[in-house]
Parts: sequence; structure tokens; C-alpha cells
Amino acid sequence: IEVEEFDLVVFGASGDLAHRKLLPALYHRDADGQLPANARIICSARRDYTDDDYRNYAKAALKEHVKDLDDEHLSLFLDRLRYVKIDVASGEGFDDLKTILDERTDVVRAFYLAVGPDLFGTICENLGKAGAVNDHSRVVIEKPIGKDGASAKALNETVGSVFKEEQIFRIDHYLGKETVQNLMALRFANALFEPLWNAAHIDHVQITVAESLGVGGRAGYYDTAGALRDMIQNHLLQLLCLVAMEPPESMNADSVRDEKLKVLKALAPIDEHNVDKMTVRGQYRAGASAGGAVPGYLDELGNDESRTETFVALKAEIANWRWAGVPFYLRTGKRLAQRVSEIVVQFQPIPHSIFDAEAGAITANRLIIRLQPDEGVQMQIMIKDPGPGGMRLRQVPLDMSFADAFKVRNPDAYERLIMDVIRGNQTLFMRRDEVDAAWAWIDPIQSAWASSKNLPKGYTSGTWGPSASIALVERDGRTWTEDD
Ligand code: BG6
Repeated sequence: IEVEEFDLVVFGASGDLAHRKLLPALYHRDADGQLPANARIICSARRDYTDDDYRNYAKAALKEHVKDLDDEHLSLFLDRLRYVKIDVASGEGFDDLKTILDERTDVVRAFYLAVGPDLFGTICENLGKAGAVNDHSRVVIEKPIGKDGASAKALNETVGSVFKEEQIFRIDHYLGKETVQNLMALRFANALFEPLWNAAHIDHVQITVAESLGVGGRAGYYDTAGALRDMIQNHLLQLLCLVAMEPPESMNADSVRDEKLKVLKALAPIDEHNVDKMTVRGQYRAGASAGGAVPGYLDELGNDESRTETFVALKAEIANWRWAGVPFYLRTGKRLAQRVSEIVVQFQPIPHSIFDAEAGAITANRLIIRLQPDEGVQMQIMIKDPGPGGMRLRQVPLDMSFADAFKVRNPDAYERLIMDVIRGNQTLFMRRDEVDAAWAWIDPIQSAWASSKNLPKGYTSGTWGPSASIALVERDGRTWTEDD
């Protein structure tokens, strides 16, 4: 379905995000017929490009990142692109942008800030000063929103002085992933799970976002962030919220966000008193990945002193009626054994077995929601082994793979999210108070680590992280799924 008429301005149009994600996402939406005939994409950066130079740049990006590029769609898409040179820091170029935008004032006007967070405030202020913001405007900002609660507050205030909250779209691209949205369908479009979705029936939850790549060319940014700020504060906490929240009254943005906020507020604090017991941080050393030998983090960074963590495992507890006593083990890291993101809901064992020892062990049910790769949902259940050999039990997966079940291309998260910006639907975006609540939980962990004498634990690239991460769950008599 076509969205309404719009102008989308992309700041940072020659950067990595635009190159790898935004241009391909917009191309796909266009090729699928979702962009109205007169939609314009106005790209801006500091380079001295003409419209045609930028179109060539965009063409190269699309050739690299889009499979089955169609020449006819490509040329129609490139025709939508305009280029304006803007020097964000000096403010030069904002008037030129305004002139282009004022060619039509009654369409959605979205500003996508695909730049570092240090520029968010300046861009918003300059847009305000240039008079480029009107009632149809929206602004999109990427995580990380600040580096702690205080800086997030300052940033939200500056952005908020130019745009109203309902015009601000804080992207956490995990919320746009098909399988993440599917989590809501699974929980709230089925009668099966919700009655069991609580401490009486669930033993624990594991959320893993493992990457096999290292920090690569992003070491400069990454070293100021680390895995806690880069991944846990946003992506993993958002996943935790979707698993743990109460049923919202509707899919309306505020209903969903109200429920997520309650979960964030109910997280039991981790601070200097329990940080060693509840968290593990690691940093990768040299090792091997699929492509061969790889250097350690400090070598990549060229700095022996850095204590930045590239791995975090932690045990989160939600202090409320539904979840008391159910640990949520979160884990994320770079240069791990494989790229896999999944949520594992481990149910309680059956209360009493009617089978004799011959039948074999009965494994508790487990629901696995695989976010990537090989997106799918798997329910592990016990059955009788077929055959006349008596009652022998076996665990088998009830398996649903998205690739097998639906023969359609799995759209990238950004495709959905950019279209939601145009539609003005904030359901899959973070509200300001959610960001604040997430930082309120993260800040004490960060400062407990900063004042701790312990350094991040080294782990060999290509493994599952420091052994302390295994110990974190084994102490509770549990294991990470891939260790079973
Ligand atoms: C980003 C982080 O938000 O998410 C990166 O800054 C990380 O460090 C990326 O690699 C992971 O996203 P995805 O979609 O590849 O799982």
C-alpha cells in the first residue's frame, strides 16, 4: 500500500548507515510500489557533490547491497534523489535545503539523522533556525541516545526544543526485525502461550545476540561505547521488554510503550554491591573466525590500555508479580563462535513423571525464537519414540522456518521502520521515558565497572566468550542453550 506523499532528508548520506541500510531499504520499498510518484529523497553530506555525483554514489551502494537489482526500478529510484551540500557544524547549506523543501509545504517532511549522536543537537537547532521544521515534520535519530542518563537527557531536551515528542522517532532497528515483531504475534495472537507466560511455568529466559564479526572500522566509536551501551541498553533490553511486558490494550504506540516502560522500571538494580555476581564483561583476544586468524581487540584499536568490553553476559531480574524469581540471562558479544540471535524461553519441568526409568529422561519444554539467521520459531516437546519397543521418550522440535514457510524476501528492519516514520506510527520506536529508564538501569552497572579493579576478561575470538559467562548460569544449575 502506498504511503502518503513525502520529502525525506537524509543527513550523513555518504556514511555507512546510508550506504548499507537506508538506500537499499528505500530502493526496495520503491521497487515494491510503496513510494508515491512524487516522493523525494534529499540527501545531504559535506562533500561537494552534484545531484548526479550523488546518484552515482548511490548506484554503487545499491549494486553492492541489493541482490537482483532491477535496472528499470533503479533508474526510477535514482531520479528521486537530490543532493544538498550541508556543513552541519557551521550551519552552511541549511538555507539551500529550506529552499528545496519549500517547493511544497503540505507533505510529510522527515529528517533522518544518520550521523553521530554528537551532531543530533546541532542539526535540530539549525533546522529550527532555518525555519525548515513545520507541523508535517518528523525527525529520526539512531541509538545510542547519549552515553548515559545525563547526556541522553540533554540530547532529548535539545531535540525536544525543536520537535514535539510525537514528531521524534528514536530508532532501535531490532524492533523492525520481522521476527521481533513476530514475538508480539506469537504472544498475543495465540491462546496457547499467555496462560503459561509467568514464573509458575517458566524457569528462565535467555536472550543471546552473538556476532562473529569484530569491531572492524568502527573501533573509534566502539571504544567509547562498549557492548553494554552499544547493545544491551537498547537492543537486548527492548527484546527483554517484549518478552516480559503485560499484554498492551492495543497495538497503539503508547499502549505498547507504557507496558515496556513498566518492565524497565521493574528491573532489579545491579550496582557495586552485586555487579560481580550478576555481570561478566569480556574483551576478545586474537583467535580464529570462519575466514582465518583474526587479531585481538586491543591490536585492532592500537591501544593497549582500553578496558572497553566487547562481550557482556548478565543476569537480569524483573521484580514484579509475573516474573519474580525468573532470571533473564542476557548475552551479547563480538567475535563469538557464530552469528546468532535468539530468545529461549525455558519452561519448568513437569511436576511428576508417570513413566518408568526405561522411558528415558524428560526434558522440559523450550520455546526458541530465532531472530537471525534462519529466522524461525521452534517448540521443543517430548514424544514417544515410534516403534514397538515400549514407551521410550524423545525430545523433538516443532519447527517453523520463515524461509520454508514463506517464499518471500525477508525485508530488512529499516524498510519497515522508515515507512512507519512516513505513516507517523511510533509503535516500534522508543519513547523518551523508555530511553531514560533503560539508562537508569545501565548507569549503575557502568559506574560499578568503572570503579572496579577487575578488568574485562579476555576470551579467544571464535569462542562463546569468557568462561565466567558459562559459570554465571551454571551457578544457578542452568546452561546456555548451545552448551546443552
Ligand atoms: C548496532 C550496533 O546497533 O547493531 C552494532 O551498533 C551491531 O555494533 C549491530 O553490530 C547489530 O545489528 P544486526 O542487525 O546485524 O544484528
